[in-house]
Amino acid sequence: MNHLWHKPRETKPWIVVCGSVAAALSLTMTQVHATSTDDPLAPAGRWEGNTSGSASTPPMGWNSWNAFRTEVDEAKVMGAAQVLADSGLAKLGYNHVILDDGWWMKRRTSDGRLQIRTGIFPSAATGGPDGTSFKPFTDKLHAMGFKAGIYTDVGRNACSQAYDLHSPNLPQGTTAEREVGLDGHVTQDINLYFKEWGFDYLKIDACGLADFIPGSDLVKKQSYRGMAPLIERGSINRTDIGAVRARYETVAAAIKTARPLGDYVMSICAWGMANVRSWGKDVGNLWRTSADITPSWTSMLHNFDSAAKRALYAGPGHWNDPDILHIGHGQFDANNPVEVRSHFSLWAMINAPLLISYDLQHGPASLLAVLGNADVIRLNQDKAGHQGIVAYDSDDAQIIVKTLGDGQRKAVALFNRGAAPAPVTLLAMHLKLADGAPVTLRNLWTKETLTFTGEKAFTLAPHETLVFEAHGKRQLEHGVYLSEIPGAINVAVDGTRQPQLDPTVHRMIDPWSSTRSGARWT
Ligand code: GLA
Repeated sequence: MNHLWHKPRETKPWIVVCGSVAAALSLTMTQVHATSTDDPLAPAGRWEGNTSGSASTPPMGWNSWNAFRTEVDEAKVMGAAQVLADSGLAKLGYNHVILDDGWWMKRRTSDGRLQIRTGIFPSAATGGPDGTSFKPFTDKLHAMGFKAGIYTDVGRNACSQAYDLHSPNLPQGTTAEREVGLDGHVTQDINLYFKEWGFDYLKIDACGLADFIPGSDLVKKQSYRGMAPLIERGSINRTDIGAVRARYETVAAAIKTARPLGDYVMSICAWGMANVRSWGKDVGNLWRTSADITPSWTSMLHNFDSAAKRALYAGPGHWNDPDILHIGHGQFDANNPVEVRSHFSLWAMINAPLLISYDLQHGPASLLAVLGNADVIRLNQDKAGHQGIVAYDSDDAQIIVKTLGDGQRKAVALFNRGAAPAPVTLLAMHLKLADGAPVTLRNLWTKETLTFTGEKAFTLAPHETLVFEAHGKRQLEHGVYLSEIPGAINVAVDGTRQPQLDPTVHRMIDPWSSTRSGARWT
């Protein structure tokens, strides 16, 4: 039992999750190791999960999409990069600058080479025989100390070509010239992005596999080449899970060849569909677990829920991705500081990528202070990579607990999902700390400390999230609970009988036992 604790990297146990991750999380270490020698799923004694790429902690940085959609341009991206540098956010870890959809002009049909819209990316107009190049753009970002990211689609066409038809920045030309996605050009495009243009991070969308249905109005009116959908939105049973995965695997192999040193990040953007929540970790470094976030409380809740109970699937090098942050907009603008802090705290606790996505040049400084909370960032970037687990759960309030590096420290978030004040009693047991010994909590927003023994009652304001770092005496002196080491687990076979679309649950705080119920299950 102890060897797992001391050398988790070499001895990651394999685990088969049948149906309920929550049930698996309640196993003790003894149960994890209770295997027979002829069991094909017995622990191999070595780590066999995907370790490719360069995302030992969740990626951080800035993405253009929620800020500018397709109305992006070079000045806006470089402006955001400059604010990251000048504000000190870059030093805190926000080191990726990612250009999302909206940069293409066309695919040159003579040789298949992609051309950049130089009207909005002037430095790409290099004029050489290749026409356009992002090398000057990535050179500038690299010189500022950033990694550079770009966006593509695994099919023939990108999402904007289905959903942003009003945009002046859609690819132009013949049907073939507007096929800017990877389909049929994987090696050529991957080499262009990673070797020639020098990008370090690739976000790979999937609308090309879903939305260009032969005979549809979209395909007819826009003269696209239709493609029988491999992903049928809203129907997991009519989605070809294997084919979608195979497409991403082909891309992953091309990236590995282009970047043999593994200095890249591969971001899979299949919005939780095609069962990507289960296999994303074996193919890429992060995978979207849900549809696009919108700047509303309920959307944030939904996206959080899509990843919050999948701690066993995440770990160093592979992260659940509930989408880029929507801080700066709508219900997460500067007038809603409670909601802003909650959104940020929750993403930090579940090891989501921290990708800012508003106009940093013109946004209010108060938001930079939230995004720059070094204590909260540290939780997210903790090297052990244990995603927070839901230790108490209801539709009204949740308690999320994250074990930090050395196993001695914990982080805990008390989260009020609802619009009314919520009573939440935190138990030492939720933290897997001893009942009879004092527990110290340091509030990472106010920096105040308090101590309790056994349990401590709080009342959370509507939508409030309190985040603490906790110290106490470990409950298990000579072992760990599985819920304390999810980042050291590789789920070998996902035995989920029915692949899921977006799982949602509705429960409430049990009026008879408050948040005490459920503490024993984690
Ligand atoms: C999809 C993705 C978004 C964004 C847009 C770009 O909707 O999920 O994150 O990349 O496409 O068109």
